[in-house]
Amino acid sequence: MPPFGPALLILLYFTSLATSCTEQERSSLLQFNTELSYDSGLSSSWENTKDCCKWEGITCSSDMTVTDVFLTSRSLQGHISVSLGNLTSLLHLNLSHNFLSGSLPMELVSSKSIVVLDVSFNQLNGDLQELQSLAPVSFLQVLNISSNLFTGRFPSTTWEVMKSLVVLNASNNSFTGQIPTTFCVSTLSFAVLELSYNQFSGSIPPELGNCSTLKSLHAGHNKLSGTLPDELFNINSLEHLFLHNNQYEGSLIGIGNLTNLVTLDLGGNGLCGNIPESIGELKRLEELHLDDNSMSGELPSTLSNCKNLIIIDLKSNDFSGELTKVSFSKLPNLKILDVVWNNFTGAVPESIYSCSNLTALRLSSNRFHGQLSERIDNLKSLSFLSIVNNSITNITRALQILRSCRSLTTLLIGKNFMDEAMPEDDTFNGFENLQVLFINDCSLSGKIPLWLSKLTSLEMLALYNNQLTGTVPDWINSLTFLFYIDISNNSLTGEISTALTNMPMLETNKVAPKSFELPIYLAQSLEYLILSAFPKMLNLGNNNLTGVIPKEIGRLKALISLNLSSNKLTGTIPQSICNLTNLQKVDLSSNHLTGAIPTSLNNLHFLSQFNISNNDLEGPIPFVGQLSTFPSYSFDGNPKLSGPMIAHHCDSAETIQSKKQTGEKDEKVIFVIAFGAFFCVGVLYDLTVISRFLG
Ligand SMILES: *[C@@H]1O[C@H](CO)[C@@H](O)[C@H](O)[C@H]1NC(C)=O
Ligand SMILES: *[C@@H]1O[C@H](CO)[C@@H](O)[C@H](O)[C@H]1NC(C)=O
Ligand SMILES: *[C@@H]1O[C@H](CO)[C@@H](O)[C@H](O)[C@H]1NC(C)=O
Ligand SMILES: *[C@@H]1O[C@H](CO)[C@@H](O)[C@H](O)[C@H]1NC(C)=O
Ligand SMILES: *[C@@H]1O[C@H](CO)[C@@H](O)[C@H](O)[C@H]1NC(C)=O
Ligand SMILES: *[C@@H]1O[C@H](CO)[C@@H](O)[C@H](O)[C@H]1NC(C)=O
Ligand SMILES: *[C@@H]1O[C@H](CO)[C@@H](O)[C@H](O)[C@H]1NC(C)=O
Ligand SMILES: *[C@@H]1O[C@H](CO)[C@@H](O)[C@H](O)[C@H]1NC(C)=O
Ligand SMILES: *[C@@H]1O[C@H](CO)[C@@H](O)[C@H](O)[C@H]1NC(C)=O
Ligand SMILES: *[C@@H]1O[C@H](CO)[C@@H](O)[C@H](O)[C@H]1NC(C)=O
Ligand SMILES: *[C@@H]1O[C@H](CO)[C@@H](O)[C@H](O)[C@H]1NC(C)=O
Ligand SMILES: *[C@@H]1O[C@H](CO)[C@@H](O)[C@H](O)[C@H]1NC(C)=O
Repeated sequence: MPPFGPALLILLYFTSLATSCTEQERSSLLQFNTELSYDSGLSSSWENTKDCCKWEGITCSSDMTVTDVFLTSRSLQGHISVSLGNLTSLLHLNLSHNFLSGSLPMELVSSKSIVVLDVSFNQLNGDLQELQSLAPVSFLQVLNISSNLFTGRFPSTTWEVMKSLVVLNASNNSFTGQIPTTFCVSTLSFAVLELSYNQFSGSIPPELGNCSTLKSLHAGHNKLSGTLPDELFNINSLEHLFLHNNQYEGSLIGIGNLTNLVTLDLGGNGLCGNIPESIGELKRLEELHLDDNSMSGELPSTLSNCKNLIIIDLKSNDFSGELTKVSFSKLPNLKILDVVWNNFTGAVPESIYSCSNLTALRLSSNRFHGQLSERIDNLKSLSFLSIVNNSITNITRALQILRSCRSLTTLLIGKNFMDEAMPEDDTFNGFENLQVLFINDCSLSGKIPLWLSKLTSLEMLALYNNQLTGTVPDWINSLTFLFYIDISNNSLTGEISTALTNMPMLETNKVAPKSFELPIYLAQSLEYLILSAFPKMLNLGNNNLTGVIPKEIGRLKALISLNLSSNKLTGTIPQSICNLTNLQKVDLSSNHLTGAIPTSLNNLHFLSQFNISNNDLEGPIPFVGQLSTFPSYSFDGNPKLSGPMIAHHCDSAETIQSKKQTGEKDEKVIFVIAFGAFFCVGVLYDLTVISRFLG
């Protein structure tokens, strides 16, 4: 250590004592604090020392002037004080993720020092005031006012004053009116404009075409309409264009001029026409989202020139022709290809099997035909495959090939293989990672095959709408993760075995959390992103099952939906069903059940759909509690049942009438209950019907 070391330290100590922040800056900060209604202990921590440069959240430069105020995620409440504008050297002000309300003082926006202003994720409200063009020139480069509660017309002249602006993020507010034309009138390096999740209307102003340095334009989830202006395609600097969920019409003719695009998202609009050949000019393109539009025609072969593509999402359009036009082998990075709900024809293109990075492939609801190729085993990363609703043939071959895709977790192949036989080759192995298997609506003959018992990771099994015969095999409960079983609409026989009442996942509420690579659609607007969003279900409806409903069914405590309808079940409804307290939907209709309705069914408080019609049940229908809320058709076709529901056939108005003399209060209660039951049944009915549109 040099001999003068300690002396230097002492000197440094005194130097720093000598200079601290000025009284004026100190009082500006204290004023800011005073205007907070809740500061989560900030003021007591600030009281410890006089030098505001040492305060929590405050940073000063070497000459002891405040340069940074960083007070994020501190639950601060109250107003943002205009006094912060008195900190004449303040460069960065970050107050994001608090509960600040009121307006944003425009003195901060027009400050001659602040460069970065981030007040995102607060509850600032009201209009954002306009800066007049006479105002002093602002030095602001980054302004983030996103995720607040701002309303009203978006300022316009303000952007002429802000000559240094580079990034403006105003997303997730409720701004209305048109997108201003003034963004690039005086800014020299404007790069990011983020206006998504607002209420902007009108179109994109042609004046934006003058923003020659713009890299990101995000205006998704607004009410923008009209056609995309030609000038937009002049912004050659553009790398990210995100206009998802608006009402744009017209075509993409000029797209080839945006040669620097990396992400293009125009999904959820009303675009028409085809994808122009010039798309091939977008050599840097990684994500192409044109889903949910009205685009048509064939895909241009030039799409293969976009060698950096990772995601192609064309779902729900009118594209047609053969996919074989595109050389997918030239897209080595492709991870997701989704063309569900189009009109593509021909074979599944062989070149797809070269995309060894592919994790999700959805070809469902098109008109593909032919057989799957064994080259699919090249797709080592493929985890999600859906080819539902095409005309693919030879299920034996398909399954033989697919089992070698070791990464497969979700396989949806229903509505193909019409009238073929379920392969019963017991030497089948593979599929060890498969969690979701749908082979529905194929009119397959044969039995529930033994090879399914080797799919030890299986969580959802759907074989509905086939012609399977034989019994439900006892090995079913060795699939210890299975929680969703739909084998309805087959010709299964035999009794409901004890195996079915010993399903581990139907006995506990736990489900492994897992998100799908692509959302699974049970209808175009009903998407499931995660496995656990599906209900725990046992659906054996519309088969030829005989015998009684075993009382052990009371073990399946986690069941949400139980359907045993349209079988030949006899005996009584077991009391133990009342232990299934999570049940929302029970259908035991069209069997030969006898005896009384267990009154303890009233304990099933979540029950919103209930049907025991067309049996041979007897005795009274409970007229209080949960069961009394269901309409008469829940009980119809049981001649020996008695109760008010039966008398007043399916007419809730009449039910209310008949109770009128019992007083106003009752009437209201009954109306609410009747309405509630109707509403819930409606919702669940929808769910059942649309579940047949699987995509
Ligand atoms: C801020 O400056 C204004 C004058 O520009 C002055 O009136 C006001 O008192 C100052 N506020 C604080 C807290 O220093
Ligand atoms: C403000 O702080 C938050 C939280 O630390 C951070 O995520 C954000 O990037 C900061 N804002 C700016 C503009 O740097
Ligand atoms: C606000 O936006 C800026 C610019 O886009 C960004 O750097 C910053 O991280 C954002 N703040 C938060 C909290 O996300
Ligand atoms: C804008 O801010 C939001 C948060 O409110 C953030 O999610 C988004 O990424 C930001 N956009 C840009 C372009 O920085
Ligand atoms: C919008 O803001 C709310 C409230 O801060 C937040 O919860 C939500 O995640 C934000 N949405 C988006 C899309 O950033
Ligand atoms: C774009 O800028 C040019 C000058 O550079 C100007 O003449 C023209 O009016 C501007 N266009 C729009 C649409 O603002
Ligand atoms: C595309 O660029 C060419 C030349 O670079 C230009 O002539 C044409 O007008 C541009 N098209 C559009 C729609 O901007
Ligand atoms: C699919 O294309 C055929 C002609 O190839 C046409 O007849 C049919 O209407 C199209 N279907 C849809 C849904 O666009
Ligand atoms: C994509 O595949 C190539 C080989 O074809 C490989 O080198 C690369 O690492 C993969 N990329 C990703 C993101 O998996
Ligand atoms: C179906 O595939 C199997 C196995 O690959 C093959 O033996 C059989 O001939 C195919 N059947 C038809 C009709 O193509
Ligand atoms: C049940 O079996 C009868 C004959 O025993 C047959 O007519 C009927 O179609 C079968 N029902 C179903 C759903 O398989
Ligand atoms: C319901 O479950 C409890 C224990 O969880 C059991 O003691 C009871 O017997 C069951 N009731 C019926 C009717 O099975």
